[in-house]
Amino acid sequence: MDDLRDKYIQAIANASDEAALEELRVQAVGKKGEVSLKMRELGKMTPEERQVAGPALNALKNEINSALAAKKEALADAALDERLRTEWLDVTLPSRNTRQGSIHPISQVTEEVTAIFADMGFSVAEGPQIESDWYNFDALNIPGHHPARAEMDTFYTHRAAGDNRPPHVLRTHTSPVQIRSMQEHGAPIRIIAPGRVYRADYDQTHTPMFHQVEGLAIDTDISMANLKWVLEEFVKSFFEVDNVELRFRASHFPFTEPSAEVDIRCSWEGGTLKVGEGDDWLEILGSGMVHPKVLEAGNIDPSVYQGFAFGVGIDRIAMLKYGIPDLRAFFDSDLRWLRHYGFAALDVPTLHGGLSR
Ligand code: PHE
Repeated sequence: MDDLRDKYIQAIANASDEAALEELRVQAVGKKGEVSLKMRELGKMTPEERQVAGPALNALKNEINSALAAKKEALADAALDERLRTEWLDVTLPSRNTRQGSIHPISQVTEEVTAIFADMGFSVAEGPQIESDWYNFDALNIPGHHPARAEMDTFYTHRAAGDNRPPHVLRTHTSPVQIRSMQEHGAPIRIIAPGRVYRADYDQTHTPMFHQVEGLAIDTDISMANLKWVLEEFVKSFFEVDNVELRFRASHFPFTEPSAEVDIRCSWEGGTLKVGEGDDWLEILGSGMVHPKVLEAGNIDPSVYQGFAFGVGIDRIAMLKYGIPDLRAFFDSDLRWLRHYGFAALDVPTLHGGLSR
């Protein structure tokens, strides 16, 4: 019995894998294993012999079984250690394949704009792209038969026959988020609302879906001067120039009074655009003081509060900043274009780390 014990305990200790272990189990304590056969011999013994050999054999069987279990666990631990050692991965290493995917210029510019306005205390608001016509038009002082409705080339959704409610629209601008934000948060308020907007138009400078960022600041003492400062700060940060001249041109929007379209001084010398110098002007946004009726639609008392709003075309300023000639290419998903104009995935724009590369 001592020989059997020595033989198997030694062999189990030396087993190099689970298969060898299983073989040993069969050889020792399997149905026809050496220990099992010895146990069968108990029947032929005298009662006295059996009283000694029985418990001893049982003890041996138990000892071998626990040695097998312990070795099995040790092998599993060793296998795990080996995997942990060989499958080791430094997750802090920079990726070798950052060019596999890239950040679309629209996403990049949206991040840049958000970083700039966040620094001035504006938070980001959102609204639905499928909008009721009340939020898209009426609440913004564009009543039923106002020509602005026709001008906007609106996409309307379909209503079931017999349903006489006005149809929803694909929002034609981000201005409905002004109303939703005022209703939700009241005054004072300072938000920007970037997002997709839709108009039925398609040529080199128009796509049926494009992007705007709305701005809204309401308080008791906000004036056109604040609007001017905020926009100048924005344009300087965004185009990364120290000096920039903006031209506020009187305009008309139903939801602002007075209204101004804002042009930026630029030059096109040699076919490339330079922002901040030159003799040309380029329109980049619409703006104005929020109309009292719009404040009312947002449940804000116009005898106490006033403020400004603006709407910038994100695609437009992306084209200007990154020298992208054709708007339609933004939405073609051409991989060559995306590789050329896209941004590295880990380059998150911040004011301190740099807005662009
Ligand atoms: N919503 C206007 C547009 O899409 C832009 C705008 C926003 C103008 C806010 C004034 C104030 O053209």
